Amino acid sequence: MPAYHPSHRLGTVICTNEDPNVLEFSFVLEGGLNEVTVKRGEFVAVEAEFGTVVASVRDLVRTNRYFQHAEAVREYQSRGEPLRSIFPTDRWQYTLAHTRVVGFWINNRTVRPYTAVSPGAVVRRIEEDVLARFLRLDAEDGLNLGTIANHNVEFRASVDKLLSKHVAVLAMSGAGKSYFISVMLEELLKRSREQGRLSVVVIDVHGEYSYLQDLSAHDLGIPENSFEVEHIRGAHIQIPVSSLTAEALGSFASGMSEVQKRDLRMAISDIRKSLKKEYNLSDIIQKVKDDDTISKNTREALIGWLFNLESTGLFGKEAFPKLVEIIRPGKVTLIDLSDFISLKKKQIIVSHLVGELLNYRRQNRIPPFLLILEESHQFCPESRHELAIPKPRIETIAREGRKFYALLCLVTQRPVKLSTTVLSQCSNQVILRCTNPYDLDHIGRSSEGIDRSSLDAITTLEVGEALFVGETVSVPTFVKIRKRSFEPKDHTQNLSEALLKSEQKGHR
Ligand SMILES: Nc1ncnc2c1ncn2[C@@H]1O[C@H](COP(=O)(O)OP(=O)(O)O)[C@@H](O)[C@H]1O
Ligand SMILES: [Mg+2]
Repeated sequence: MPAYHPSHRLGTVICTNEDPNVLEFSFVLEGGLNEVTVKRGEFVAVEAEFGTVVASVRDLVRTNRYFQHAEAVREYQSRGEPLRSIFPTDRWQYTLAHTRVVGFWINNRTVRPYTAVSPGAVVRRIEEDVLARFLRLDAEDGLNLGTIANHNVEFRASVDKLLSKHVAVLAMSGAGKSYFISVMLEELLKRSREQGRLSVVVIDVHGEYSYLQDLSAHDLGIPENSFEVEHIRGAHIQIPVSSLTAEALGSFASGMSEVQKRDLRMAISDIRKSLKKEYNLSDIIQKVKDDDTISKNTREALIGWLFNLESTGLFGKEAFPKLVEIIRPGKVTLIDLSDFISLKKKQIIVSHLVGELLNYRRQNRIPPFLLILEESHQFCPESRHELAIPKPRIETIAREGRKFYALLCLVTQRPVKLSTTVLSQCSNQVILRCTNPYDLDHIGRSSEGIDRSSLDAITTLEVGEALFVGETVSVPTFVKIRKRSFEPKDHTQNLSEALLKSEQKGHR
């Protein structure tokens, strides 16, 4: 099958001083006064002897030699006779499209460009399923996340390419990050046993995903519920003290000294020896209080730390939830932290869960999982001056997790504030609208595949439009994220809708 629409001619390659070269060519659009339409970002094809050259339109420039000389234009203007009324100016207008070559399509394979197209070659619209295959999408088993911008092609991302390593979802707030996550969750939940189902844990900082509890097979258009969604309220979470080492406890209280850790370790080992299998923080506090081998200063500091931890109300004798029992294929577990205002409490929970998930996965006691972390800059900040209890564990999972499919999906509206160690481990990036120059700069530096023109385009994206960079696609690709199949009941599009709802409810 040809890689282009035979009838869809777009233009002819020209030669300038710079191009065509291996990576660029320019062409003049066809059609004279009824010029064809080509959009910035659109993929086009040129048939060459060796195969098809696939390029993306980088920019469009209109020219008209009648308007090239400012003085002539000024002269006619001051006479009150526009050039248009004297000369056939419109016949001399044409558009030049500048393209960037993104690859060759040879014998059904994507090949890196190695030579230039010929001047005079015909540029055509690309055939849709060739484009899908060129980009390495998975038409059958892929996740249907939306459509390729400027093309009528479903963006079906291969699970293996999108999720077998860590993913970062980056954009300013309101750009559609969480919406994209819900679309991805719908697609993951739709998967059948035969396709293999991932287990997903969502750290839901704002309680945005709890509506998914009401999701049914009917909403997703699948024959039966082969999935499960469990909603766990942050307030119910309990961290089992007796399973924690002194290091683990110490990690919740940042800044503990070596001496304090050593004494805490001894206190805990004494309690364990005294036959108590299950104990809580107050038992440790008592033990430290009674222990005169600990110096007065250390004792007071330790008791202070421990009281502080106890006052969070997050610790107890038994674990809740028991991750080994609840993490299952085809299941989404929502950890809803919207009850908490305190960042420290949220961090303690995240740190604990991340540590447990990684350990259990290492021991193969839970299936491969995807951990979605909203507001990830709050949990794994780049700056050393911010509270960052879970940071070492998140960095460990980022570095080592993918070997055994402990996968991260990090979502943030402040990419510049997210740990670069973690960001650089993300083999895939989904970038939505972003206008902050510091964030853009950071995104540009942390992802190899992204060029200046794509970076510029990120500032002009609309809500729900994303740039995929990384292993999912052979070249950076703009995607219009699809609509959700299932909407939260109380979802409001904008302020006026929210105001109307509150009037109806009779809020006073
Ligand atoms: N792909 C999309 N299709 C339709 N509407 C969208 C899409 N993405 C985002 N929106 C709209 O934009 C709003 C904000 O998106 P959201 O995902 O909450 O932003 P973020 O998480 O980036 O702050 C959503 O509530 C929704 O109304
Ligand atoms: Mg959000």
